[in-house]
Amino acid sequence: ALLVAVSLALAGCTADRRPGAGSRSTPTSSPSPTPGPAGVGDPYFPTAGNSGYDVDRYTLRVRYDPATDELRGTTTVRATATAELPLFHLDLAGLTVRRVTVDGTPARHAREGAELVVTPAAPVRAGAVFTVEVGYDGRPVPLRNETIGEGGWLHTADGAVALGQPESASTWFPVNDHPSDKATYDVEITVPQGLVAVANGVPQGQRPAAGGWTTWRWSEATPMASYLSTVVIGKYRTTTGEHRGRPVFSAVASSLPRGAADASVARTLEVADHLESIFGRYPFGAYGGVVVDEPRIRYALETQSRPVYSANFFRAGENTGVVAHELAHQWFGDSITVARWEDIWLNEGLATYAEWLWAEHQGGDTTQAAFDQEYVSSDDQLWRVPPGAPGVANLFSSSVYQRGAMTVHALRVTVGDDAFFRILRTWVAEKRNGNATTAEFVATAERVSGQQLDDLFAAWLYGTERPPTPTRAG
Ligand code: ARG
Ligand code: ZN
Repeated sequence: ALLVAVSLALAGCTADRRPGAGSRSTPTSSPSPTPGPAGVGDPYFPTAGNSGYDVDRYTLRVRYDPATDELRGTTTVRATATAELPLFHLDLAGLTVRRVTVDGTPARHAREGAELVVTPAAPVRAGAVFTVEVGYDGRPVPLRNETIGEGGWLHTADGAVALGQPESASTWFPVNDHPSDKATYDVEITVPQGLVAVANGVPQGQRPAAGGWTTWRWSEATPMASYLSTVVIGKYRTTTGEHRGRPVFSAVASSLPRGAADASVARTLEVADHLESIFGRYPFGAYGGVVVDEPRIRYALETQSRPVYSANFFRAGENTGVVAHELAHQWFGDSITVARWEDIWLNEGLATYAEWLWAEHQGGDTTQAAFDQEYVSSDDQLWRVPPGAPGVANLFSSSVYQRGAMTVHALRVTVGDDAFFRILRTWVAEKRNGNATTAEFVATAERVSGQQLDDLFAAWLYGTERPPTPTRAG
């Protein structure tokens, strides 16, 4: 489903959205579109994802030639029908579909915008596990969004990068493109010999393919949201290893001088171990990071088990802050994934707070000092935009990050360190590999601390002015 920024989802009338009060999970500010075949009903992105089935595994076989920008793919989707399906949708933006089968039988297929509509020879029964195979090719085109930027497959100087939040996957494979449907991935990428092709999860090796090409294989066996998938193709310096029994695979663009980017990514394991000591076990079967030298990518993204970083983060020298941020997302975002985009502060607030924790651990500012500095910030967007209901245009605003982290710190001050770290560990343990909402986070915080926290979260997440400084409760 093409990324559509709906103006009705822009934050505004959020005063009565108190997490503790009444309808916790039903937004009153943004009407929920009805889930249908062409969308799961996310108020921010009504056409993202599709209803009627639940994917459990993607098997992707992709061949890409950077010389011509031509991609050819076969995607196999194994899913369970949650209703009887006379037809169903997959999200696919651009590309030409050549062939679709459902359980091995040819199916009719049509395109409606960024939707691929599949009509199987016979309806899929409710509850049935079914397999869809799609053959397709073409030149991938990224998705554009005026307010949040570009997502998806980008042709680069010597290869390609597929990356983006909230959407990217549908530019290179047919997918249920919403974070509420997590699945495992087996990926094979065939590229001209001499190029590296990196994806998520455990490296399964490379083997020669016809015509002097190379096939790289990757496997992500822990459920992953589609926006956390990535492929990076090109000339890269790679580092491999093992840490705590899991493979490490990192890559830095060869165009960059050996230096700060390599050194920062090399500290991934040390940072991950520190975060593990706070949050609980590192959630995935592999470690790594990829640094891209592509001017159109000006951010980092917590792509599962192997974050992708813009080279810009390392121009001024070693930077483990961004590494700590992206690694914290492995717990908050990747293992525990938002059920809908409005709750993005659950990702960004906690990842930013982890940066504060890492800085303190490194001998920098304390978390209290970081909070105090932000609290007197003159950035009025911080207080105007409620991080718990930022609206599409402010999905990645400073409020979601900084006020999100301040919300986390306000919780810590209110309940005390002991309860605070038990809340985080309980949250991580109970929601591991799943989806979550703000209301569930508030409920966990109240249950673990034994305190009533409605007013705290209402003010910090949904208020449109600066809340009072937090004080220790009871
Ligand atoms: N989740 C990413 C991070 O904070 C940021 C992605 C920014 N995306 C964007 N389209 N601007 O690590
Ligand atoms: Zn982040």
